[in-house]
Amino acid sequence: MDKITIIGGNELHGKITISGAKNSALKLQAASLLTSQPMVLTNMPELADTRFMVELLEQLGVTVYWPKGSGRMQTHVAEIRSTIAPYDLVRKMRATFNVLGPLLAREGHATVSLPGGCAIGARPVDLHLKAFEAMGADIVIEGGYVKAAALRGLRGAHIVFPFVSVGATEHAMLAATLAQGETILENAAREPEIVDVANCLIAMGAKIEGAGTSTIHIQGVTSLNGTTYNVIPDRIEAGTFACCVAATGGEVLLDKMIPDSINALLGVLRQAGVGVERGDNWVKISRDKNVALKAVDIDTQPHPGFPTDLQAQFMGLMTTAEGTSIFRENIFENRFMHAPELRRLGADIIVRGNEAVVRGVKALKGAQVMATDLRASVSLVIAGLMAEGETTIGRVYHLDRGFENLEAKLTNCGANISRSAGD
Ligand code: EPZ
Repeated sequence: MDKITIIGGNELHGKITISGAKNSALKLQAASLLTSQPMVLTNMPELADTRFMVELLEQLGVTVYWPKGSGRMQTHVAEIRSTIAPYDLVRKMRATFNVLGPLLAREGHATVSLPGGCAIGARPVDLHLKAFEAMGADIVIEGGYVKAAALRGLRGAHIVFPFVSVGATEHAMLAATLAQGETILENAAREPEIVDVANCLIAMGAKIEGAGTSTIHIQGVTSLNGTTYNVIPDRIEAGTFACCVAATGGEVLLDKMIPDSINALLGVLRQAGVGVERGDNWVKISRDKNVALKAVDIDTQPHPGFPTDLQAQFMGLMTTAEGTSIFRENIFENRFMHAPELRRLGADIIVRGNEAVVRGVKALKGAQVMATDLRASVSLVIAGLMAEGETTIGRVYHLDRGFENLEAKLTNCGANISRSAGD
């Protein structure tokens, strides 16, 4: 298994171009099942997760042409060959579950493995299934599989989500584009990725209003056309690099991104004493590393609140801030797995339930640590970049799921970070 070695202490200077958003790309890949015409997705991030999704799409009968390094994925599925998403593929990556809605909407039936829990929490899919039932689908769970059928087609429904779910909002929206009549989604998630998926579906001929607000109206159509669509920039990648620069000191321009998509992070970075300048599609982060950061508290919330996907990175940063910061994780029940690893580098963190108390220490010292999930592992990179001496991170396949060219992007800005084959 590969490992990453970092020699900490280097400031970061330069420019980083932000890649396409993983969590949008995955849902757009699922959306390509909704049309029998060719689709082109540009600014596609080359990640383990988007490649897993290709494996599944191919199994369902989609022809995929995605030359390495092109960022341009072409798909075409004149006829769906299979409506079964097997356990082996769904267990590797939960977002593959999102093919259920498009298959059900287009073919009237689908059998998709339940994704099961994952490292950050139980992550049930009950809201997804309730939405499809409200749209007229019969759902049976058997042998770990969801068997869904709507043989006379899905019909529009008024769905009020009991709490905000990104996945359930997107999934219901995908299916509702081909349902008969109007679907209203209330208490919908408002993440930028939802708006991106809606914009792509609209370009495909779907009738959707209100994406990005808590009420979305979808008027079903009988078919969707193919289109060429550019995936939005990854706000979590942008926020992660912002934390890297805030941690090491220096000045880096984060280019080709949407500054508003990380407003919550930029606000707390400013409170901590980090320099933030912004333009139309860039943010410049600067910090004098001789001036200590101030501790700031974090409460994760659905968008536009502070994203759970940046909680671990901000915790990495706060380990050497002046004072105590309290982190409250309100989205997932087990998302502090980075805390014990950060402690190995000398951080002072106590976890109690969904709360972590981080008391800033003068400096971190390099150590051997282990990645546990995608965002947790990149918080260890941040800690390693500011620690004295050498940090090695094992199980880096977690990083490859969601960060495109991470080491190259950091090396270009002066970081001492490299990958090698591990034991
Ligand atoms: C998406 O997960 C993202 N994944 C996550 O990013 C992100 O952390 C999360 O949204 C929150 O922003 C993708 O887009 C692929 P939810 P999702 O449904 O859709 C509970 C990353 O690192 N819930 O908004 O699964 C759920 O357990 C990943 O890139 C139910 O109880 O998140 C959680 O506690 C990690 N029943 C809460 O709701 C359901 O049917 C919010 O989850 C659905 C969700």
